Amino acid sequence: MDEYRFRSPEQYDQLHPTGGDGTRCVHAGLPAPVPGAPFLPGPVFAAPYHLDPWQGPATAPNGYGRPDNPTRRLLEAAIGELEGGDCRVFASGQAAITGLLLAVLRAGDTVLLPADGYFPVRAFATDTLAGNGVRVLFAPTAGPYPSFDGVRLVLVETPANPGLDVVDLRALAERVHAAGALLAVDNTTATPLGQRPLDLGADLVVASGTKALTGHSDLLLGYLATRSPELLDRLTAWRTATGAVPGAFDAWLAHRSLATLDLRLARQTANAEALARLLAARADVSGVRWPGLPDDPAYPVASRQLRRMPGVLSFDLGSAERVARFLDAARLVAAATSFGGLHTTADRRAQWGDDTAAGFVRLSCGVEDTVDLVADVTAALDATA
Ligand SMILES: Cc1ncc(COP(=O)(O)O)c(C=O)c1O
Repeated sequence: MDEYRFRSPEQYDQLHPTGGDGTRCVHAGLPAPVPGAPFLPGPVFAAPYHLDPWQGPATAPNGYGRPDNPTRRLLEAAIGELEGGDCRVFASGQAAITGLLLAVLRAGDTVLLPADGYFPVRAFATDTLAGNGVRVLFAPTAGPYPSFDGVRLVLVETPANPGLDVVDLRALAERVHAAGALLAVDNTTATPLGQRPLDLGADLVVASGTKALTGHSDLLLGYLATRSPELLDRLTAWRTATGAVPGAFDAWLAHRSLATLDLRLARQTANAEALARLLAARADVSGVRWPGLPDDPAYPVASRQLRRMPGVLSFDLGSAERVARFLDAARLVAAATSFGGLHTTADRRAQWGDDTAAGFVRLSCGVEDTVDLVADVTAALDATA
């Protein structure tokens, strides 16, 4: 870790617009107002840009679209403000995570990954990283964690998808740094309004912006954020070399969607709380997990660490067949993978090869009225009891 210089939290605080979450989301990354110009400039579509015939690319910020694009830069400024670090966006969450792993790890390095996190990351590690000579270890999100001696990078996902366990990031960061390793946190489920891992000691944040961050189920996006200029340079160079960038229109849509993040999350969390209580009280539903339920195993850490609880919960309906009947009966719960969108969706994870039970469901609350959602889920469960 010594090779990396880190900016102080104070330097980053100066970058944040002040105010509450709603204010920060509405203003994140916006340029200073210009009379006659829109609040958020429209997407800039360009592969090459005009160059100064004498100076070449040296004098203009834009030379070619793969390294840079003005629409992307504004989105990066916005997410960077919310996370409290410098941000680079990627074509998807998976592009950001695999980019991080491939850019930081070398043959002979050891990486520790969540045993219960997003399944394709684990598959990538065992298929590709191990093939590159990287030693891959796994630990459950809730622990116990092994010794970090000789580990180069620890990646955790908290709350974890789909099991929703959480890990104490401040305590983990201390242990990881004492061993000279780097800590990266997948912040997809919490979003930067739910938790700011860089403030809690993480070196890197990585996330899928496809989920709640943008929330409209209409684009793919990933990002990395860090306070280390060296890590940022390395990851930027990686992205330029591999070309895993989002298009200008997706970047613009994502930035437009950020303005409502606070509002969307507030309703999603309220809906998740109502459904978690409903499900936990039913004898025909088992294994309900939501970190905001006081008797959930994740609650003690989650209630200290998370600024708001996620809109995602999980439970078990016992069989694939009952899940299908439940989804058929529900009017407001769409069968769909992904999560964090405006529409309530549910996903039987085992159908994707995830190592979960056949009846295990991850349910993502949308922004429907709570009373309607509770009535719909109650009716669908009753119809399939
Ligand atoms: C926790 C987590 N990280 C990363 C990803 C990958 O993101 P994307 O689908 O945008 O590539 C996902 C996708 O579901 C996820 O749930």
